[in-house]
Amino acid sequence: MPRAYGLARLRGVEDDELTRLLTNERHPRSGRYSARWMVDNAMGPNPVWLAESLTDVMPLEPGMRVLDMGCGKALTSIFLAREFDVRVWATDLWIDPAENWSRIEEADLRGRVHPVHAEAHALPFEEGFFDALVSIDAYHYFGTDDLYLGYYAQFVKPGGLIGMVVPGLAEEPPSYPPAHLSPYWKWDFCSFHSPDWWRRHWEKTGQVAVDLADRLPRGWEDWLHWNDVCDRDYGEPREDAEMLRADAGRLLGFTRVVARRR
Ligand SMILES: C[S@@+](CC[C@H](N)C(=O)[O-])C[C@H]1O[C@@H](n2cnc3c(N)ncnc32)[C@H](O)[C@@H]1O
Repeated sequence: MPRAYGLARLRGVEDDELTRLLTNERHPRSGRYSARWMVDNAMGPNPVWLAESLTDVMPLEPGMRVLDMGCGKALTSIFLAREFDVRVWATDLWIDPAENWSRIEEADLRGRVHPVHAEAHALPFEEGFFDALVSIDAYHYFGTDDLYLGYYAQFVKPGGLIGMVVPGLAEEPPSYPPAHLSPYWKWDFCSFHSPDWWRRHWEKTGQVAVDLADRLPRGWEDWLHWNDVCDRDYGEPREDAEMLRADAGRLLGFTRVVARRR
């Protein structure tokens, strides 16, 4: 759930304290990145932690061409290029690619991360151009219709990997909103789905074989902790943390999926 990013930030937590609070043993690679950089540029749950969780199960080799679809402020693109020595096309709709270019240059990744402005249904790439497609906290915005995966998968070479992490549910609730979440539920949470839902949603197309569809281990705890720290820094508590606390991992968390194009 994106915060209304672009607002003036209070920066209520000192940078050293922010680093201490956001050091997370489950995400050792992420610990190499500035906590301040992650907090100031995130558009939702920490994308660097989520990208690390995806790459724990999705092998990337040096030199690969990787699409980072819905990259937002390109933190994940920078992380992927740095950590795995891959070339990344940082593709997004809402964020100005010139803004992402500044972050890419600042990270000294000119020529290794390319900012692209594109809508997910009109991607300016050749069929089979990529070795892998990655998407963090974005695919649920454009990929829940039955036909999207067939379009998207064409951009990875046959046998290439397609991976994503999205906010999700442990299971599909019998009715909406789930009773214990009704005080917090927003209509667009209807795009949050379980690992089983996503597995079926992708497999039924016949275009991919799903290697893995699971919930991020302790994902909801990381999400809640991240929100608590960000709220402290922004000086403004939000309902999301309250919702995650009320849910206590029963339903909310992250769904992670890795598949291969047939
Ligand atoms: C919650 S933000 C997450 C951004 C980034 N991945 C992160 O985790 O910080 C969702 C992103 O999805 C992108 N997005 C949503 N709908 C899109 C569409 N139809 N085409 C391309 N990108 C889209 C937005 O531009 C936005 O940056």
